[in-house]
Amino acid sequence: MPAVLITGAQWGDEGKGRATDLLGSRVDYVVKFNGGNNAGHTVVVGDEKYALHLLPSGILTPGVTPVISNGVVVDLEVLKGELEALGARGVDVSRLKVSANAHVITAYHRTLDKVTERFLGKRQIGTTGRGIGPAYADKINRVGIRIQDLFDEGILRQKVEAALDFKNQVLVKIYNRRAIGVDEVVDELLSYRGLLEPMVCDTGLLLHEALQDGRTILFEAGQATMLDIDHGTYPFVTSSNATAGGASTGSGLPPHAIDRVIAVVKAYATRVGAGPFPTELFDESGEYLRAKGFEFGTTTGRPRRCGWYDAPIARYAARINGVTDFVLTKLDVLSGLDRIPVCVAYEVGGVRHDEMPVNQSDFHHAKPIYEEFPGWTEDISEARRFEELPTNAQDYILALERMSGARISAIGVGPEREQVVVRHDLLDPVDGGRPAADRDERG
Ligand code: GDP
Ligand code: IMO
Ligand code: MG
Repeated sequence: MPAVLITGAQWGDEGKGRATDLLGSRVDYVVKFNGGNNAGHTVVVGDEKYALHLLPSGILTPGVTPVISNGVVVDLEVLKGELEALGARGVDVSRLKVSANAHVITAYHRTLDKVTERFLGKRQIGTTGRGIGPAYADKINRVGIRIQDLFDEGILRQKVEAALDFKNQVLVKIYNRRAIGVDEVVDELLSYRGLLEPMVCDTGLLLHEALQDGRTILFEAGQATMLDIDHGTYPFVTSSNATAGGASTGSGLPPHAIDRVIAVVKAYATRVGAGPFPTELFDESGEYLRAKGFEFGTTTGRPRRCGWYDAPIARYAARINGVTDFVLTKLDVLSGLDRIPVCVAYEVGGVRHDEMPVNQSDFHHAKPIYEEFPGWTEDISEARRFEELPTNAQDYILALERMSGARISAIGVGPEREQVVVRHDLLDPVDGGRPAADRDERG
């Protein structure tokens, strides 16, 4: 089993930490390959609840080597804070490895993120304000600071000077903010050298050797397919590749190393920040999902926008990522609804679209075409086998599976670690490509 990837099929917060947890100790390395501390993963282990932003949630699994690879942008203050907080709770963080090529988020990235959002006014993206976009912009503009630069003070100073030369003009003349001093930034970055020293390495080589030794590697994406810079709802996206392809460039392992792709998908849909969301609900059903699903951002605390399951989006995610298995989360949130609408296609200007329209403005104006499924009233949080679910819940899952382009291998029925119905082992080969919906599991 070479490498396995977990990403989100929707707009993030699908419960990716949940899927990582399912693989547990069968994984030797867990790699964060994109994004930074814009992610927010809540993982419940026993009585303990952990909220992680920068570190991959696999860090909670004993014995695993967590890796922050080259595709990540690292806020060192956040890294220090998360490591200390986990250490204080008894989590062993000593194995963490950080790529020498990962870029750092500095004070000027955070400031620029906030002021540019304010400047955009009504057109703002609704970023997390963590400096993610500006740090990736510097990387692409070839004026970024990499972790390895911290170990050569002369180079670091030159690079910070070059970056601030331009940025201070922008901050002072356009945004009316104070200029940021070179020493301030350099001194702060240098102060993390001691922390980083034992962790920094060529993570590409480390992972390559791990594969050669027969180890299992798990790639854990931050964000999700619809927030991907290339494949999401641009410009209302994050600034990295959260889809499967990002794991290769973001880690230095070749694409063929990844042979299982798990997409986590909620039994309904949510989104934080601005941008199109065809199935969004503005009525009491939306309120119901938000309250019952506790849909408030882990990172910013913002209420999440809520809507019904969107099958064309799930199919799109299956296609873009090459999904082998879906993990369907939060099915328990739907218990008690009379009828459950699912978006099966869109209507744009009187024309039916069975797949996501290619033009963003069409997607903005897309009206969902719904098929309704009968709900169930039973509490499903104690179900552990598919046949223990109410028939209507089984039918809902099988219908989503037929529409979504890959088998649904596990179903979350509550936030706790054991509140899950497993239909197929996530590491087992897909059953001859035959959708599970064709097989009789009703017993
Ligand atoms: P991530 O960003 O994809 O890791 O997801 P988040 O942690 O931001 O959001 C998912 C939330 O849903 C977390 O609070 C989880 O504890 C919770 N969760 C995950 N699976 C289930 C489930 O099956 N049922 C319920 N009720 N909550 C779940
Ligand atoms: P996880 O990993 C949900 C959203 C922000 C904003 C857009 C750009 O928990 O699923 P950014 O700060 O990245 O430049 O913001 O992306 N966003 C997320 N939404 N879950 C996330 O991560 C997100 N990370 C970024 O709300 O709309
Ligand atoms: Mg989240």
